[in-house]
This record gives sequence, structure tokens and C-alpha cells, in this order.
Amino acid sequence: MPRILVLTAHRFPDDSRINKALIEALCLLPNVTVHELVRVYPNYQIDVAHEQELLQTHDVIVMLFPFYWYSSPAILSEWQDAVLTYGFAYGREGTKLHGKPLQLVVTIGGSAQDYSSEGRNRYPVVDLLRPFNAMANLTGMDYLPPHLVQGVFDMSDERLAQEALSVVKLVQGF
Ligand SMILES: Cc1cc2nc3c(=O)[nH]c(=O)nc-3n(C[C@H](O)[C@H](O)[C@H](O)COP(=O)(O)O)c2cc1C
Repeated sequence: MPRILVLTAHRFPDDSRINKALIEALCLLPNVTVHELVRVYPNYQIDVAHEQELLQTHDVIVMLFPFYWYSSPAILSEWQDAVLTYGFAYGREGTKLHGKPLQLVVTIGGSAQDYSSEGRNRYPVVDLLRPFNAMANLTGMDYLPPHLVQGVFDMSDERLAQEALSVVKLVQGF
């Protein structure tokens, strides 16, 4: 079974409803390490060596986060800046992430319609996530189509349970 690292990024994990439900479901899988960045690093002081070790000891990297201002919460941006260093993630000898699949799982307030070219947010979410695609490209990771959980504001408990099951199935598919 592949070892799967789920990096989660939420500003206030205790206030989360959607990400919390997805995390609880993923925690039940035996080959998954759920790594909640804000809980481990409440002061955003990231242990780079530990994070690089985690990346190297897992086969698949999943990033699970709520969409904030058309991007990720700041802790994930900080994580990228700190952890994806020259000589590790890019550069002539920076090949440690080569070939690892990268799966984004993003929870989004707006609906799919909101994120169409005619919608209020103008751009499709997959376009707004392109910096992650470019990051995967530079680091030699295999960028998989992002898994989007859209329209979360008024999501029923039943639909949330279905969404959690979909994410579990996605991760079990690796
Ligand atoms: C600071 C902040 C920024 C947000 N920005 C967006 C956004 O750009 N687009 C969007 O559709 N939803 C946005 N949202 C809504 C979140 O995506 C939504 O609340 C989250 O996915 C719900 O997950 P949770 O219950 O785990 O917090 C934002 C929410 C917050 C708190």
C-alpha cells in the first residue's frame, strides 16, 4: 500500500466543519498520515527538516485546505516557502519529490456556477489553482486533477458525509 501524506491547512481548525469532517474520515485509513499544519505549528515556525523527512517517507502527497481568497490558507504558503528548498525540491540536485503524485482537495464556499467565466468569481477554480500546478511542475511532482468540494456554505450533513466518502475513495484509489 502506498504511504499517503495528507497535509491539512486551516487557519482555525477547531472552528472548521467541512475540513474537520474530511480529516476525521481520512484519519481512519491505515496508510494515511494526517498532518495538521496549524496544530503542529501554531506559531507558523515550520520544522523544515521534519517536513522534508515526511515528504521523503511518503509516496503520495495530498494537500487538503479551504479556499481562502482564491488560494490556500497562509500556513500552506509558508510551508511551501520554507520546505520546498533549492537542492531539495528544485535545482540540479533537487529531485527528492520527483514522480510523487500531488493531489489537492479543496473546499470552496462558492458554487461551480460562481466559478464559471460568466459567474461572480469569473475564473474557474482549476485556473486559480494554477500556481500549485506550476509548483508541481518545477518540483517534478505529478499534478493530479484537483478534487473540489464546492458550495460548502449550506451543505447538509448528508451531503457532507457523501463528500467525505468521495474523498476517502479518492485516497484509497492510490
Ligand atoms: C478568510 C476566508 C477566505 C475565504 N475565501 C474564499 C474564496 O476566495 N472563495 C470561496 O469560494 N470561499 C472562500 N471562503 C469560504 C471557505 O472556503 C469555506 O468557509 C471553507 O471551505 C469551509 O470549510 P471549513 O468548514 O473547514 O472552514 C473563505 C473563507 C475564509 C474564512
